[in-house]
Amino acid sequence: MAGISRPRGTDDLLPERLQAMEHARQLGTAIAASYGYRPLETPIFEATELFVRGVGDTTDVVTREMYTFEDRAGRSLTLRPEGTAPVVRAFWESDLRQAPLPARLSYWGPMFRYDRPGRGRYRQFHQFGVEVLGESEPELDAEVIAVAWRWLLELGLGGTSLQLNSIGDATCRPQFREALLDHFGPHLAQLPDLDRERLRRNPLRILDSKDPDVAGLLEAAPKTTDFLCDGCHEAFLRVQEALVAYGIHFQLNPLLVRGLDYYQRTAFEVWHEDLHGAQNSLFGGGRYDGLSEELGYPHCPGVGFAAGLERVTMLAPPPGPAPLPLVWALAAQPEAAATVIRLSEQLRGAGLAAVVDAGRRSLKAKMRSAERGGASLVCIVGAEELSQGLVTIRLLGDGSQVSEPLRTAVDRARALLFQSS
Ligand code: HAM
Repeated sequence: MAGISRPRGTDDLLPERLQAMEHARQLGTAIAASYGYRPLETPIFEATELFVRGVGDTTDVVTREMYTFEDRAGRSLTLRPEGTAPVVRAFWESDLRQAPLPARLSYWGPMFRYDRPGRGRYRQFHQFGVEVLGESEPELDAEVIAVAWRWLLELGLGGTSLQLNSIGDATCRPQFREALLDHFGPHLAQLPDLDRERLRRNPLRILDSKDPDVAGLLEAAPKTTDFLCDGCHEAFLRVQEALVAYGIHFQLNPLLVRGLDYYQRTAFEVWHEDLHGAQNSLFGGGRYDGLSEELGYPHCPGVGFAAGLERVTMLAPPPGPAPLPLVWALAAQPEAAATVIRLSEQLRGAGLAAVVDAGRRSLKAKMRSAERGGASLVCIVGAEELSQGLVTIRLLGDGSQVSEPLRTAVDRARALLFQSS
């Protein structure tokens, strides 16, 4: 078909997919609320600087993946590629910071990255996430993981593993970076271009290399956890102890580094066995105690995670069928149109879902649509019913039919539906 197609890397959320995503989001919000997290929403676009400074100007996200444009007044704006920097900004620009700390917040919404489209990888995708701002206790790192984990369980999503690492902080990371440079430096010639570039600009990222030629070097590479300073080491142990207390299994993964620059200490991802390569993470998160200062605000520690809803719903069992409209109100003759419209409004007012068909098609065609549309019950008004103030109510399950005065039709419809369910 030669029409205009949707932009590459985007998807239409058709009813079933949307229902699954809404289910996942609502469940996530409710579970987060049970841990004391309150939802917030931030704008879809932000000042470009927020991400350049927050996410980091050497990251793939900032160098290659942002949708950046100038508005009519010449400001540089960016469609948000992630939600953490915006939440930190919103925290400082609102009275959230005056409320008792830490602030526990949850959010969801579309994110935009000019990524290479593939299975579970889009240019517009949706994240659900939580952030805790204003406290650096390591038990909070375990808490956000617990929110994520409970959400996965309640979604019925198996086949996952929690990958956990500590990538140190400003005290100990410089030594680790040096050790990486020492380790890979003599092998520069054998590194693929991308990894050579990573080593030059952001050495930690080389640990994320998927190149088979680098695998051997990676195995022998220094481990973040061997370089942790006392503070980072102690914090990492406390995170692990708290995870044990939550009953959550984790896999220590010293090669886990994240694609965004703001992380310190705890870094984690949830992987799924059916996701491979660069898109294997279902959730990603960690602690970002330096982010607030990077953005020009006072010091404010934080920790959180975000999950891609497309990936989650691609893998989780689908929720039950959408609640379809149960009652259809049909006009059998044109003069009954206004009556069935009013009746359908009364049905909705009584808490039922109703589809109205007041058009000019034959009753037979309307009945067929009602059956296909999943109606449990139809209310029919034709010329005869109209003259007597009646409605014909038919239960589609057993084909039984009653005549009911218009005044009491809604109550009768409810009673019949209730009996039949
Ligand atoms: P992230 O790892 O960049 O972290 O993204 C989190 C999740 O978003 C991924 O695990 C994945 O499920 C999903 N995702 C990322 N890119 C795509 C894509 N192109 N298509 C589909 N899904 C995608 C963050 O964004 C951090 N803000 C997480 C965080 C919150 N850290 C602390 N607090």
